[in-house]
Order: sequence, then structure tokens, then C-alpha cells
Amino acid sequence: MKNIRCKNYQIHINNWIELTSFLHHEDPSSVFIIVDENTEKYCLHLVLEHLDIPVQVIRIPSGEQNKNLTTCQHIWTNLMRYGADRHSLVINLGGGVIGDLGGFCAATYMRGIRFIQVPTTLLSQADASVGGKLGIDLMGFKNMVGLIQDPAAVFIFTEFLSTLPVDQVKSGYAELLKHGLIADKDAWKKLTEHTDVKILDFEQLIFESLNIKKKVTEQDPNEKGLRKILNFGHTIGHAVESYWMDSRTPLLHGEAVAIGMVSEAFLSYRIGKISESELFDIRKSIIKLYGHHPKFVKHSDEIIGLMKADKKNQKGEFRFSLLESVGQACYDITVDKEAVEESFMFYKERME
Ligand SMILES: NC(=O)c1ccc[n+]([C@@H]2O[C@H](COP(=O)([O-])OP(=O)(O)OC[C@H]3O[C@@H](n4cnc5c(N)ncnc54)[C@H](O)[C@@H]3O)[C@@H](O)[C@H]2O)c1
Ligand SMILES: [Zn+2]
Repeated sequence: MKNIRCKNYQIHINNWIELTSFLHHEDPSSVFIIVDENTEKYCLHLVLEHLDIPVQVIRIPSGEQNKNLTTCQHIWTNLMRYGADRHSLVINLGGGVIGDLGGFCAATYMRGIRFIQVPTTLLSQADASVGGKLGIDLMGFKNMVGLIQDPAAVFIFTEFLSTLPVDQVKSGYAELLKHGLIADKDAWKKLTEHTDVKILDFEQLIFESLNIKKKVTEQDPNEKGLRKILNFGHTIGHAVESYWMDSRTPLLHGEAVAIGMVSEAFLSYRIGKISESELFDIRKSIIKLYGHHPKFVKHSDEIIGLMKADKKNQKGEFRFSLLESVGQACYDITVDKEAVEESFMFYKERME
């Protein structure tokens, strides 16, 4: 059991008693749990076992393709149909999609009702459930509509991870690696020593990762400056993810971010921040876990085209968050198209 105290709320790790007593203390007029078909099957019964109050379940279809306005409308309509009022509480039981979308629906329904995050994937437990970013995708672009608002609390239960497919665990692990690379060299080293990510002490790893995210987001909740370092690996990663999204071989978010981190480590080297041996070490460690897939950066013009839609870029320039050193990051670094192309070449190179 672990606990992290954030400015406006608490994160409880592996503590069912806290969940029960939180609900008693909040005393909501009604409780709604948002699930998808997977969290309904694997996670809902565990939560219901620990609740002694009536709840209304709202089901949505899983997947990023449903993180949209149609699904919001379904949630809002059901909240209304089942009489949710301003004293109701929403429990988001799922991965980052449910956390972002369910949080967005709760934060806007009747101008905002309380919600808690009960994340069920490694990605959402170690990253998405904290920092208050909520939202949905629009016209194929990620997180175009949303807001920043904290939940009333976050309850993490690592037992949910036992049903999570291994590729999803690896996808979430990329965010742990990112937190290490940008803020904690020792954590990065420790994380790269593991080869089997399915059997780890997740309670401790999630605890360490969330502390990094909390420290950064509390200093800059609205991403005016420092918070941008959390985007390391994501400028290229998001573009690669978007490019392959509707193909026959889509990438999971963390798989795309893994490619993004190798490429953006190259950019950090190219502007003189990290050494060649550090760069090679990062590439080797990431490729050991995620494999080497040159085909995913083959269509560099199209991928770079997609980067232009990134919210972080301004006036047609690419602005990156890069590594200052291993365990430290910098942000708002302007990089030109040629350097991005070189970074793809570097990713594509065969390693000896
Ligand atoms: N708000 C933030 O700060 C933030 C940060 C990072 C990512 N995100 C968002 O998070 C989303 C990705 O999150 P994700 O990777 O958790 O994806 P996800 O929510 O789509 O979950 C992945 C899959 O795992 C299934 N699943 C969830 N829990 C399970 C369990 N315990 N057992 C078996 N299956 C389970 C889901 O049904 C889904 O099919 C993206 O939309 C991304 O934009 C948000
Ligand atoms: Zn991410």
C-alpha cells in the first residue's frame, strides 16, 4: 500500500479500504461507473465486491477510435437518463481512454461533477491518471478538445494488470522509461535492466513514476513551461502513431513513443546535449524491449507532415522537448525538418 499526496487530491495505491471510506465520506447522491467491454469483464467485479452502495454502470466500446464526441453523448445521455445531479460521482474504471473521456464527460456535465480515476492499464496507472488532462480526439487528431481538471481522487490497484495483454504492459512501460530518461537517471538504469516486463514489482515502479509526473505537473499544471518535458518522445511518437493508426499494422501508443524516444534522443545528441555513447545506449535499451522496426519511419514526409498538426508546434516550426542529459530534459527546442529526417535515418540504421 502506498499513498501520494497531490495538491488537490490523493493517489492511493493498492488500498481498497480507502476507496470504501472515500465513498462513504463523499456521500454522493448517486454513483456511476464507466467501463468498456474489457474492464467490465476483468475489473468491474473486483470493484463491486468492495462497494456497499448502489451503482449505475455505463458501458462504452473500447479503443482510441471511440474517444470521441459520439461516446461522450452516450455518457451524458445516460447520466441524464439515470438522474445524475450535481452531487453525483463518476468512477472511471479503465485505461487512459476511459480516464480522459470519462473525466471530460464528468467535468463538463452540468458544468462539472466529481469524478475519480480507477486506472486499469499500466499506462494509465503510471501516467494518464495524474496531471488532470482530460479530453477527446477530433477528426483523427488526438486530444483536440478537452480541459485540465483534477479528479477527486485516484485509486490504483496493480492486481488489474494481471489480465492486461503483455503488449499493453510494454506500451505502458514506455512511459516509465520516459519518466526515467527525463528526470531520474537511476530509475532509467534500473528500468532498462528488466527484460520480462510482466513480472515486476509494479507497486514500487508506479509509485516512483507518479512521483516524477506529480512533481512536474504541480510546478506547471497548464503546460506553460516545464510540463512540456513530459512530451519527450511524443512529437515524433504521436506522428508515427497517427500515421499507422488506420493501417493494417497500427502501433500501440507506447510502441510509437519508443520509436519517438530513440529519434528524439538522436536530436538531443545532434544539438550537443547527450554523448554518442549515451545515445547508443538509449537506442540499444529501447530496441531490446520493443524490437527494431525501420518500416514505421519509412514514410518520413508524411510523418513530418503530421507533426505540423501537433499542438506544441508554433508558426510552422517544430518545437521539441529533448534530453539535456540522461535524467534531465529541456523544452521548446526548435529543430528543422532535415534534423528530423536524420533522426529517422538513425533509427533505421542496423545496429552491430
Ligand atoms: N491524460 C493524460 O495525461 C494522458 C497521458 C498519457 C496517455 N493518455 C491517453 O491514454 C490513452 C491510452 O491509454 P491506454 O493505453 O490505457 O489505452 P486504453 O484505455 O485503450 O486501454 C488499452 C486496452 O486495454 C483494455 N484494458 C484496460 N484495462 C484492462 C485490464 N485490466 N485487463 C485487460 N484489458 C484491459 C482496454 O479495454 C483497451 O482495449 C490515449 O488516449 C492517450 O491519449 C492520457
Ligand atoms: Zn504517452
